[in-house]
Amino acid sequence: MSLSDLRVHLTLVAFCLTSPFAFAQGQDQARRPYAGQRLVQVVVENEAQLQAVLDEADGLWNHRVGVGPIQVMVDDESLAALGAMGLAPVTIVEDLQAVVDAERAEIERRRLQLDLTWFENYHPYSEIIAYHQQLANDFPQLASVSVIGQSHQSRDIIATEITGPGDASNRPVIFFNGMQHAREWISPAVVTYIADRLCNLYGQDQRVTDLLDRVVVKIVPIVNPDGYSYSWTNERFWRKNRRNNGNGTFGVDLNRNWDINFGGDGSSGDPSSDIYRGPFAFSEPETSAVRDYVLADPNIVAHVDFHSYSQLILYPWGYADIQVPEPDYTFFVTFSQFLSDVIRSVHGVFYIPMQAIDLYPASGTCSDWTYSVDIKGWTIELRPNGNPGFDLPPGEILPTSEENFEAALAIMERFKDAIRLEFPQGEVTTAYDLTPTTIQVQAEEITDTVQSLDLMVQPEVSSSPVALPMTHLGDGLYEAQIPALACGRSFAYHIEGISSAGQPLRLPETGQIDASVVSETIVFDDDAETDLGWTVGAPDDTATTGIWNRMNPQGTAAQPEDDHSPAGTDCWVTDGVSGGSLGARDVDGGGTTLTSPQFDASTPSGWLSADAYISYARWYSNDQGADPNNDHMPIMLSNDDGASFVMLEDVTENAHDWVVKTFRIADTITPTDRMRLRIVARDDSPGSIVEACIDDVRVTIQGCRFHPADLNRDATVDASDFFIFLDLFASGSAGADLDLTGVLDANDFFAFLDLFSQA
Ligand code: ARG
Ligand code: ZN
Repeated sequence: MSLSDLRVHLTLVAFCLTSPFAFAQGQDQARRPYAGQRLVQVVVENEAQLQAVLDEADGLWNHRVGVGPIQVMVDDESLAALGAMGLAPVTIVEDLQAVVDAERAEIERRRLQLDLTWFENYHPYSEIIAYHQQLANDFPQLASVSVIGQSHQSRDIIATEITGPGDASNRPVIFFNGMQHAREWISPAVVTYIADRLCNLYGQDQRVTDLLDRVVVKIVPIVNPDGYSYSWTNERFWRKNRRNNGNGTFGVDLNRNWDINFGGDGSSGDPSSDIYRGPFAFSEPETSAVRDYVLADPNIVAHVDFHSYSQLILYPWGYADIQVPEPDYTFFVTFSQFLSDVIRSVHGVFYIPMQAIDLYPASGTCSDWTYSVDIKGWTIELRPNGNPGFDLPPGEILPTSEENFEAALAIMERFKDAIRLEFPQGEVTTAYDLTPTTIQVQAEEITDTVQSLDLMVQPEVSSSPVALPMTHLGDGLYEAQIPALACGRSFAYHIEGISSAGQPLRLPETGQIDASVVSETIVFDDDAETDLGWTVGAPDDTATTGIWNRMNPQGTAAQPEDDHSPAGTDCWVTDGVSGGSLGARDVDGGGTTLTSPQFDASTPSGWLSADAYISYARWYSNDQGADPNNDHMPIMLSNDDGASFVMLEDVTENAHDWVVKTFRIADTITPTDRMRLRIVARDDSPGSIVEACIDDVRVTIQGCRFHPADLNRDATVDASDFFIFLDLFASGSAGADLDLTGVLDANDFFAFLDLFSQA
């Protein structure tokens, strides 16, 4: 076996119980298989030494094996051998059997204490099953327990299903399981706590009630009943199931037995291995029972396989260094980070989100398999993150459960929609004068399909919305048009619909989106391809290098290679020449100031109303060098031709990219016809690298020249407008349909009178 094979083989061989020693014990001694064993840490220098240590040790506790510190289980003889190799082993746990014995004593003590809740102690197989049955008895409207299969030794594998009353056939289903690995006792406790809280909080807690009315939670608390039982009666650190492999060894690692890259990296064909994958995929009654249970329900959308320990949130793939395709990859990265934040918010405990392969490769795992059958699958490694490993103290069962219950709720929340609706271009809040507005909705049909969608539009002159049917463009993309409205009008809208299963659909879930109709004109547009009259320098400037210039920037680790404009090459940059080193041409010695030419952001003459917006693309880098992140870049506005400036934003963000910003000028300063923009790149902290750029500065005015009742647009609302409206009305023109109902009636007439009288 090569060292790398051995590494995979031994990665999880925490306690390889194939030594004749373990099996030669009598009944009493078999319960104390770690007598004389200690856990030590050695620092190995090279692969040869690693191999020698692995050969000598009786078990390995690290998830990752390599050169560097590793923790191994040794008896006195092996300890001496490691010492003889010159490795200076450091003892971490003096007497492993004493730790196991103490854990058991603590469990017994707590078992007798009736004032502690059930979740302040570990429970054997039969008590966990009984707990689930009790939940189903206590909450018959919510919970039911079924037997989904039997283990090798004929123990029941049960599933608990929980959902609110009513027809659940189109509800998305979330699946949680625990206890594939016998020694990971915290995992069935956590999923049982999830079941318990869901049942007990339904009708008490609004969030739990709403979620259970929309999703079904299915829980298999103990996938590996035989292994779990054996870890109570015989070997506390047993991992696998209890298949009799026929050659004197027992057990298949259930989390290598699933049909996803079965037999690949991070699994073993050796029956004595702790990561023995079994003779073929789904060879085990335990995994095939759970497979059948999952495949029987096409509504399962998300899944977590709970393990311990390490405090990790692992997403696929775990069998090879391959990313799942988009959009799933981005989803897993961002949502796993979110789950980590949710967990941390409960007790401040940090679970690291990562792709499973980055921990180590493992083939044939459960959550890779659920992902392969179109379910968002995670593995969560519970507490602790190190010492004392699988023997998480009973006092930590409850906090571990509490933090993971919040994660479970977050998953239910994210997957509660049978159909997810979203605005693919974001919420449209601006419509343009006399121009129809297209609103699009993207529907993701998860466990139900869209029957119909309507765009509900409520013009400001109406007290209720009108329904505009949306057209299906294909692939779940729906579209409808809001008819052209005159500048100065406004409306609110939302989406309503019905699913094939008769469920109401709505976007946003509550409320409406407000939009107003404007005209837009660009009054200043500068792509920096020519100099429109910028000023470099100000009296207070002290910078000696990195002075602003306008050029095609030369890319460095701190400055972009390209300007921002789609066409063109130039931008304003704090010396766009790259220089001999990163720090050679950056801003040094104080500030360098760049001031725009004057621009006019006042209401254009003849307009009734106007709102000015300024936008620009900026680049800022200050996170490199000896003293990073100690500088800042004020961007300011003047409305008195540069006599005084007010801060628009003080940039510290290191995006390593162009960032486009848009501001409503009136939020910062009263717009006038004597505006200037100023950017000061500062190096106040000598050790830091400061590079900045600015491009595509644009000022737009949004507003209206004419009142919406000024139908002939002659700048006065008078009788002639009234007669024009009457003409439109009489001729049945859509222009008179102010309330957008599609029919011309008295409401349109009164709506016009309203607009008219407000003029
Ligand atoms: N501890 C679990 C196991 O070894 C986690 C596996 C997660 N997947 C992975 N590719 N690392 O079964
Ligand atoms: Zn595990």
